[in-house]
Amino acid sequence: MFSSVGLAALALAAVASADDNARSVGTLEFKNLFVESGIVPNVIAALDPSVSFYAGYRSAADGHSELLVPGASLTVSEASLPIEFSVENLGNATGVTQQTRYLIYLLDTDAPSRDNPTSRNLRHYLAGNYTLATNSSGIVASDILPTASRLTVAANRFFPFTQFTPPNPQPNTGVHRFIYALYTQPSRFDTVGFESVGMDRATQNWNLSQWRTQLGLGPAIGATFFTIDTGANNGQGTSANRTDFTGTSGASTASVSLFASGLTVAATVLGLMAVF
Ligand SMILES: *[C@@H]1O[C@H](CO)[C@@H](O)[C@H](O)[C@H]1NC(C)=O
Ligand SMILES: *[C@@H]1O[C@H](CO)[C@@H](O)[C@H](O)[C@H]1NC(C)=O
Ligand SMILES: *[C@@H]1O[C@H](CO)[C@@H](O)[C@H](O)[C@H]1NC(C)=O
Ligand SMILES: *[C@@H]1O[C@H](CO)[C@@H](O)[C@H](O)[C@H]1NC(C)=O
Ligand SMILES: *[C@@H]1O[C@H](CO)[C@@H](O)[C@H](O)[C@H]1NC(C)=O
Repeated sequence: MFSSVGLAALALAAVASADDNARSVGTLEFKNLFVESGIVPNVIAALDPSVSFYAGYRSAADGHSELLVPGASLTVSEASLPIEFSVENLGNATGVTQQTRYLIYLLDTDAPSRDNPTSRNLRHYLAGNYTLATNSSGIVASDILPTASRLTVAANRFFPFTQFTPPNPQPNTGVHRFIYALYTQPSRFDTVGFESVGMDRATQNWNLSQWRTQLGLGPAIGATFFTIDTGANNGQGTSANRTDFTGTSGASTASVSLFASGLTVAATVLGLMAVF
């Protein structure tokens, strides 16, 4: 499904046609939208972001790269390939230097369905060793929002604990909320993976508070979220039962390893920084 050629094309498109109207989102707006969505306090007790954390994706409407503003509704296809991570106001996070590494996750808090989320939280991605992207002129700006700085992982440091699994929720399981979060990485993980402290590989029923304690993490410094509307689920979907929806499983793993390695290879070949 994801060939290197396809990924290369996507990466090129991301560079070639930036968002027409990307805008900065303040940390207070992130905070408020997490409350409005019910994620705080139902899924995480609190979110007090010190930075604005963004993902970029490719719009299905016009093929342009777009900035994920919190609460945006994406299609399965749009959500399948985040093309960039970036951050603003990094200076407001405590203890951050230009050498600081970060970890990023993606989870579905409404798996398998919004009204009966027995797998909450379902982890779709977890990787560390992200840093600010730099080139010979200094810190590299986002391709989508020029005031944001790009986050990247060098290929020789890219060891995702959970390979990226494209969101693919079943039809008629309501509106799923997918959360991306950014944490500063404790320095011990600069040389070892999260398995070194006994982190469980299981992706279902991921307990975030237990995990933070296990890894010795502070609170997330930034987070954002998007939704995928799969249709009716006891009124939780915004539309009636949909027949056009192509989702087939909560977390298809078929293309996972291809995705991550393919993207890294494509990015390297293109001379771009790896976006994961
Ligand atoms: C910290 O955040 C505020 C907005 O909340 C912003 O005005 C200020 O520039 C930020 N400081 C840094 C160092 O980014
Ligand atoms: C470094 O990245 C910036 C974008 O942030 C770009 O404008 C600049 O041309 C790049 N410099 C080099 C030497 O590639
Ligand atoms: C970070 O990269 C090093 C290799 O430089 C690797 O040993 C370590 O497992 C990585 N840590 C994480 C959290 O991915
Ligand atoms: C998550 O872990 C914490 C701390 O171990 C525990 O108190 C809490 O009940 C757990 N939550 C769930 C939903 O299992
Ligand atoms: C949607 O499907 C469920 C069963 O999957 C059914 O009970 C419900 O009546 C359907 N709603 C509509 C609007 O078709």
